[in-house]
Amino acid sequence: MKIAVFGAGLMGHALALVHALGGHTVRLTDNNAETLARAPKLMATALATLREGGEADATWTDARLASTVTCCNTVAETLQGADLIVEAIIERPDLKRALYAEIDALAPMHVIIASNTSGLDIFPLMPERRQPRTLIAHWYTPPYLVDLCDVVGSEKTDPAVIETVRKLVADMGKVPVVMKKFIPGYIANRVQAAIGLETDRLINEGYASPRDIDDAIIYGLALRIPILGHMAKADFTGLPMIQNGMRSSTYQPATPHGRSEALDKLIAEGRTGVMSGKGYFDWGTRSPDELFRERDRKLLALKRALRDIGRMEET
Ligand SMILES: NC(=O)c1ccc[n+]([C@@H]2O[C@H](COP(=O)([O-])OP(=O)(O)OC[C@H]3O[C@@H](n4cnc5c(N)ncnc54)[C@H](O)[C@@H]3O)[C@@H](O)[C@H]2O)c1
Repeated sequence: MKIAVFGAGLMGHALALVHALGGHTVRLTDNNAETLARAPKLMATALATLREGGEADATWTDARLASTVTCCNTVAETLQGADLIVEAIIERPDLKRALYAEIDALAPMHVIIASNTSGLDIFPLMPERRQPRTLIAHWYTPPYLVDLCDVVGSEKTDPAVIETVRKLVADMGKVPVVMKKFIPGYIANRVQAAIGLETDRLINEGYASPRDIDDAIIYGLALRIPILGHMAKADFTGLPMIQNGMRSSTYQPATPHGRSEALDKLIAEGRTGVMSGKGYFDWGTRSPDELFRERDRKLLALKRALRDIGRMEET
């Protein structure tokens, strides 16, 4: 397929790489010239990590990548020959609406439009006549390592379009999860948000340190998740135990209140995370680049191990 990727930021350049490695030709654009100029180097760096980790074969040279992904300066040029548009521009409804109008004016009617939005109901932003071929295909960062892609349409989306995108994602070796209807945050980010509410409470109310929380998550919670997920783990726990826990209401969920004192304090001190060298933890003198590379290498090693082990399959 011919893919047009709009937005070459954190997600867009990585999605261009994913679709290129998946066997498609890609045209990539960004309305910020500097961001577009930076994209080929970022893609080449990610590709090098994948080559080193054996996730991309040796034929994937930088030259092959450059001939598969073309950077374009205009909407019209980007849309040339496109079968699928991957929209990964900034998360602002006004800007997405404006881009959809430009696309509507220029793209042939057969083109499928897939938004990577994290939380916006983009369907009302799309001109009516495009809605049957509009859906969300939401990826996780970095999408060349994290395989999940949430696929969801509106009630106006043609089911055949959802199936085309589901198959395209699966054929690239990725894992599409087709949701029955749109909800902001999909599944993984909603579960993560619930975890975030709880960890904020544990920190803000003085029950545990960030280190304690990550020890509990990494050595307790996480070990089972890669093979059992959450629902299959419940079957191994035994459902009556969960029922009893619910009946006695021993666990009261944290109430969202829109902010976290601990988080506000860190940010006010300039501790914004890996990019500033400090967040909940001190990341020492290593550059963000080095830290991302180390994370990616470990993720790759874990992916390989998980592939070997496989998940618990239901009968
Ligand atoms: N950051 C994440 O972890 C993540 C994960 C999944 C989904 N998303 C979603 O992906 C989308 C992009 O997020 P991001 O993190 O890559 O943001 P980003 O800010 O890194 O990149 C967005 C890019 O869009 C460009 N842009 C804005 N208007 C444009 C237009 N009309 N045409 C072309 N380019 C335009 C900007 O110049 C910018 O480079 C958002 O919808 C976001 O919700 C982000």
